Amino acid sequence: MDRNLSLELVRVTEAAALASASYMGRGDKEGADQAAVDGMRKTFSSLSIRGTVVIGEGELDEAPMLYIGEKVGCGDDEEVEVDIAVDPLEGTTLIAKGLPNAIAVVAIAPKGCLLHAPDMYMKKIAVGPKAKGVIDINASVRENLEAVAKALDKSIEDITVTIQDRPRHEEIIKEVREAGARIKLFTDGDVATAIATGFDETGVDILMGIGGAPEGVIAAVALRCLGGDMQAMLYPMSPEEEERCREMNLSKEDVNKVLFLDDLVSSDDCFFAATGITQGDLLKGVLYLGNDRAQTHSVVMRGETGTIRFVEAVHRLDKTATLKEVIAKHGRNRS
Ligand code: FBP
Repeated sequence: MDRNLSLELVRVTEAAALASASYMGRGDKEGADQAAVDGMRKTFSSLSIRGTVVIGEGELDEAPMLYIGEKVGCGDDEEVEVDIAVDPLEGTTLIAKGLPNAIAVVAIAPKGCLLHAPDMYMKKIAVGPKAKGVIDINASVRENLEAVAKALDKSIEDITVTIQDRPRHEEIIKEVREAGARIKLFTDGDVATAIATGFDETGVDILMGIGGAPEGVIAAVALRCLGGDMQAMLYPMSPEEEERCREMNLSKEDVNKVLFLDDLVSSDDCFFAATGITQGDLLKGVLYLGNDRAQTHSVVMRGETGTIRFVEAVHRLDKTATLKEVIAKHGRNRS
């Protein structure tokens, strides 16, 4: 894929972030999500790609925009076909409450290279580049911590594990505490926390737990670009979810097997972009500067070269042609 696509992708996540940021703290998850979807969809339409959404806002009957199977982009037949995974607003509760780490994300890979993950839970373990190759989702928590500590040249006591604060994680939390590692619980947003393991300055070394499967695939693209590692297992919770797996051509073996990074995203020719909506550990949130200006902070990564760019941009909200309409619909002055 054309390397310039990475900068185009940042426009897509910036648009979602700018469109939804005014919802911060309003307690309106749906409104914020719709704004992010509107912003992302609008910008996608001007992108020179032939894309199909494989991870999106739901099935056609559940989501009018960015639904699974939707064709996006204005690329002609010469353009390579790509699979797209989107989460216009990752962390709906975070923005509704004004909490850290709500982001807009998109990941792209050539057609057939992203796992078409059903909307269910997934067991995950993720680490940054220094601990690549040492994790094992079937090993105990202590064994994983020992292996990661060795790879990072730290003692277990100096390792920080990030875990979503949910009752389903009580056992993992107990085992991490018994092993002596530090824990950073987070309320929502396991894409941002998975990515954080790839950056020393965030202070987290390993993500463990069960979160959304679509979010798992999106995080896997970022970790592949970063040179990090991830293992996962689908985690259906009901016969209906098992049936959903079958409908998506995932056999019982697929559901029970360990998904390695290569199973989640099978090509280095992939891109990942994210823009902060609320202030986060890695990305700053959208800042309103006054005078109809807003600042965004994004990260964009390319798997083939492993280049990671941070992009800080100042936008003139009164002049942003593609977004004006969306911002007017969802803007701060809406009735
Ligand atoms: P939303 O943006 O859809 O609200 O998802 C937030 C999130 O925290 C994800 O990051 C995570 O994978 C998932 O929810 C976990 O699900 P649950 O809230 O059911 O524990």
